[in-house]
Amino acid sequence: MIESRTSSPHLINIIPLPSTYLLLSPAMASKFFPALPRAGRQLTRHVPRPQFRPFSAGPQRFSDSLAVHRNKPNNNPSIPFKFSEQNNQLIEEILARYPPQYKKAAVMPLLDLGQRQHGFTSISVMNEVARILEMPPMRVYEVATFYTMYNREPVGKYFVQLCTTTPCQLGGCGSDKIVKAITEHLGITPGHTTKDGLFTFIEVECLGACVNAPMVQINDDYYEDLTPESIKTLLTALKESATATSSSPAEIVAPGPMTGRSTCENSAGLTNLVDPVWDPETMMRKDGALDGQAQ
Ligand code: FES
Repeated sequence: MIESRTSSPHLINIIPLPSTYLLLSPAMASKFFPALPRAGRQLTRHVPRPQFRPFSAGPQRFSDSLAVHRNKPNNNPSIPFKFSEQNNQLIEEILARYPPQYKKAAVMPLLDLGQRQHGFTSISVMNEVARILEMPPMRVYEVATFYTMYNREPVGKYFVQLCTTTPCQLGGCGSDKIVKAITEHLGITPGHTTKDGLFTFIEVECLGACVNAPMVQINDDYYEDLTPESIKTLLTALKESATATSSSPAEIVAPGPMTGRSTCENSAGLTNLVDPVWDPETMMRKDGALDGQAQ
C-alpha cells in the first residue's frame, strides 16, 4: 500500500496496489487504519527541519542588526566627513606607531576616532578611514561590521549597554530587575532610543566585570553592583546633567561599584591575608643574638 498527499491538504490518497483508489479524509483514514496517525508522526520526525540559532534572545541592537549598508538620509556616502584638526594630529601620532607599509593596522583606532567625532560609524566615516589608510573600503567595512563597538546607526547621547549574561543575571539583585527598572524609567525597551535622543538602551553580553554584577556600561564608564534604585538615580542624574547649565552643574555618581566598595574587594571586609605584612625593621630580633650567626 502506498500513502501519498493529494493537492488538497485534507485528503490522503490511499492506493491499494494494484488497482482501486480510495479518497479518504484524515479522520476517516485513522478510523479505517488506526496506525496511520502514528506512522505519519514517525515519518515527519525524520523530515529535516531548518537548523538555526538566533544570535540573541533580546531585540537586535542597531549596530549589528544589519550585515549590509543601505543608504539613508543620515547615512550615505554623499554626506561629507573630514576629521577635525585635533583628530588629524592624533591620527598622525597613531600612524607613527606603525611601519608605513602596515599603516592599515591603524584601522581600529581611526574608526574609533571617527565614531567619537561623528557620533556613529557612518559609511562616510568608513570611507574616509579607507582613504587615509589607502586600503579598499570593503576591508574597512569588514572591520566595522565585525566589532560591536562600532555603532553603524546613530545612538543617544548616553549609550546604555546593560550586561544580561548569566553571572550578571544571577549576581546581586539580578540583571532582570535592572532591565525592568531601566525600561520603566526611560519608557523604552532594549534596542530603542528615547524620543529626546538622550538614551539608547541595549542588552549586551559579558563586559568582563562579572564580579561586580549586575553592571552597565554607559558610554565609556562602567557602573557596577547595581540595584533598581541606583540605576534609576544614575539615569536621572545623567538626564539632569544633559540639561544643566554651567552655573548649576548636575552631580553624577563616580563610575565603579555603586555600593561604595573599592573595586571588587569583599564588601564584608578582608577575610584572609589579615596578618601584618612581614617587615624586617619591626620583626627582626634586636637583642643581637643572631648577629654572630649571620656572619
Ligand atoms: S556577565 Fe556581566 S560582566 Fe560578565
